[in-house]
Amino acid sequence: MTATARTATTENTPQITASYPVTMTAALHRSFGDARSSVEIASAPIPSPGPTQVLVKVEAAGIAIGDWLTMQGLPYIARPAYGLARPKLPVLGNEVAGTVVAVGDQVSSGADAFVPGDRVLGFAQGAFAQYAVTEAAHLVRTPDALGTVDAAAIPVSGLTAYRAVVEESGAKAGERVLVLGASGAVGTFAVQIAKAHGMHVTAVASARNADLVARLGADQVVDYAAQDIEDMGQSWDAVIDLAGNRPVRSLRRLLTARGTAVIVGGNGGRVTMGFSRTIRAMLLNPFVKQRLTMLVAGSSQAGLAAVRDMVASGAVIPVIDRTFPLSRFADAMEHIGSRHTQGKSVIVVDG
Ligand SMILES: NC(=O)c1ccc[n+]([C@@H]2O[C@H](COP(=O)([O-])OP(=O)(O)OC[C@H]3O[C@@H](n4cnc5c(N)ncnc54)[C@H](OP(=O)(O)O)[C@@H]3O)[C@@H](O)[C@H]2O)c1
Repeated sequence: MTATARTATTENTPQITASYPVTMTAALHRSFGDARSSVEIASAPIPSPGPTQVLVKVEAAGIAIGDWLTMQGLPYIARPAYGLARPKLPVLGNEVAGTVVAVGDQVSSGADAFVPGDRVLGFAQGAFAQYAVTEAAHLVRTPDALGTVDAAAIPVSGLTAYRAVVEESGAKAGERVLVLGASGAVGTFAVQIAKAHGMHVTAVASARNADLVARLGADQVVDYAAQDIEDMGQSWDAVIDLAGNRPVRSLRRLLTARGTAVIVGGNGGRVTMGFSRTIRAMLLNPFVKQRLTMLVAGSSQAGLAAVRDMVASGAVIPVIDRTFPLSRFADAMEHIGSRHTQGKSVIVVDG
């Protein structure tokens, strides 16, 4: 990394009160494929924040299965967004915890002001790097009590779980919620968030994760290899589908007469990876009494703040599976690609 510091503040340059270098180490996405052949850990210019943006010194970056899919260029129907022949975006990663080092000239006014030195968490494209730029609206402050690795686990997985359980499922305290895929990055948040909202939780996981999801508060744990949940003669007010491997008719059989299925995950061939199932559910939804809905990832400052506050208060504890230094990026991606992680894995960024 070059040690030149930038501290200028002029009309068309960001307001900067902390100095930072010119280049950084980053996970550069050269082509679609596995991490060892398509990603290079190398030097790159540090991006400058635009007027409404913030430059964050990355301390930790959560890894989601979405990062693995982007790296692979999967599913193929998403290629126009990723880039047809080669990746459009130079650096991988989407979620970040770190410290603000520079802000655009429209950021430091208003209620959600950030200033250099603030600890933050949130969404930042290009997070697998020493520095990342993002819109101020995609960040929230990290309280002192919240560790950096836990903070980095929140944006994608914590917010997805929160939106599925609290905003989309329609389930209320005392109602029955079924989490399919309870032991993964989103599932471990979903079980805890549902419990924190007083819901009765059935968690579906493999036997090796039964203790984990029980410790997170699940009232009932079902081993998907030993028991088909459909044969249990039970129904749920809401199904949070993270495993993504059941046909729509199966999800409907698990629901009460007016229950809601929130389709979050997808599983299937490399062309759509199960998205055709989601489309079928959306087309069917207007004609049935049950509610079939899908969740699309997206940033929400209010949602991020809600999950952050649950974590800061101890009501929800991020389950950290593994941490990896940026130099072991390929190992981290291979682990995520296994699809059998226990909670969330995080890249810890030095320097
Ligand atoms: N729509 C969105 O905005 C959004 C956002 C984030 C994630 N997602 C999607 O949500 C899904 C889950 O994400 P994640 O990050 O939690 O994935 P993950 O960390 O890879 O977890 C997947 C979990 O599924 C479990 N599993 C595998 N087969 C199962 C089965 N037959 N029944 C029940 N559980 C099973 C695995 O547990 P075992 O190891 O015990 O088998 C694993 O813990 C993914 O498809 C992801 O793409 C969507």
